[in-house]
Amino acid sequence: MTDVRAGSSGPAGAPGGTAEAARPAAVTGRAASPAASPDAAGPALAVSTTGLTKRFRGGQVAVDHIDLAVPRGSVYGFLGPNGSGKTTTIRMLLGLAFPTSGQAELLGVPMPQGAIQVLPHVGSLIEGPAFYPFLNGRDNLARCDAADRTADPRTAADRINTALDRVGLLAAAGKRYRNYSLGMKQRLAIAAGLLTPRQLIVLDEPTNGLDPQGTREVRGLIREIAADGITVFVSSHLLAEVEQVCSHVGVMRTGRLVFQGPLEELRRTGAARIRIETTDPAVAADVLRKIGLPDPQIAGDEVTAPLTDFSPERICADLVHAGVGVRGLGVVTPSLEELFVGLTGEGFDVDG
Ligand SMILES: Nc1ncnc2c1ncn2[C@@H]1O[C@H](COP(=O)(O)OP(=O)(O)OP(=O)(O)O)[C@@H](O)[C@H]1O
Ligand SMILES: [Mg+2]
Repeated sequence: MTDVRAGSSGPAGAPGGTAEAARPAAVTGRAASPAASPDAAGPALAVSTTGLTKRFRGGQVAVDHIDLAVPRGSVYGFLGPNGSGKTTTIRMLLGLAFPTSGQAELLGVPMPQGAIQVLPHVGSLIEGPAFYPFLNGRDNLARCDAADRTADPRTAADRINTALDRVGLLAAAGKRYRNYSLGMKQRLAIAAGLLTPRQLIVLDEPTNGLDPQGTREVRGLIREIAADGITVFVSSHLLAEVEQVCSHVGVMRTGRLVFQGPLEELRRTGAARIRIETTDPAVAADVLRKIGLPDPQIAGDEVTAPLTDFSPERICADLVHAGVGVRGLGVVTPSLEELFVGLTGEGFDVDG
């Protein structure tokens, strides 16, 4: 199930409730100054955190001093395996959980202090139930819209229709929520986040449980949202699901941010290796070692080693000169997926 927290405009009376969403401002008892309202022209970062940390009561550090920097206008893929701290981070960003230490800003406004000012500019979709199962999609959106104090009730029907149309749910708008497929529920959640113009959309695993077709559709939707100039912060445990739409990525591993930057930069971190197919792998490895290539690896009739500064031509010449029978020689660079797995670790067991 999905919980829509469309800023302070969430479906406040919905099952599963969003009372907690308003809690930070209520608990601190002070509204942020009007100067804290986000300015559409700046700042350069839509999301920024410093040393953001969450330690749960049992002592587990779910998020460990992370410094997020999400450029405005980017589609930022927040990636990491199950249990790596993505949802906990997102909950802190939206003021739904209190950090143990560290700071977070949304659109330049400190959270949770500025929640009331900034959340109307932020659409979000995170785990947890929020829609009424016995109401249809349109009526659920109407409740979300009615709960938004900043929305004009006279234009509600237009807003709802536009949002339904945008996520391709117009035809199914009259169907009860409980009869929606997982993909339709996900779309409705995104529609709720799009009821009013937003500067930032935060989506926690929007492709979770979707079939390949649904995943493709959500990707298309993300592209459209981004084309309107809205910053998209989207989490996923699968690089492949968001790789095609992301301009930037942040990679989490057991609560720590192990990489952050443009997707292209992640691609560039992949060091090239020389791969030699040979009749004499042991001798070939020996030659590579002698000319200075570190740690050659033998697998069957293949030898690989980091290319470092050597040219493949020079290596080939040296091998032939040493009498090694070279059947094939090439340079391989790891795929993005391999780099991602290298950062997050492989294996079935969840972190923590
Ligand atoms: N309320 C809580 N109390 C105690 N531990 C928690 C709580 N919420 C989350 N955790 C723990 O914090 C860690 C991070 O969880 P989180 O939900 O943030 O991970 P995630 O990256 O979103 O994982 P997934 O991909 O499965 O959604 C996990 O080990 C989880 O068990
Ligand atoms: Mg999660």
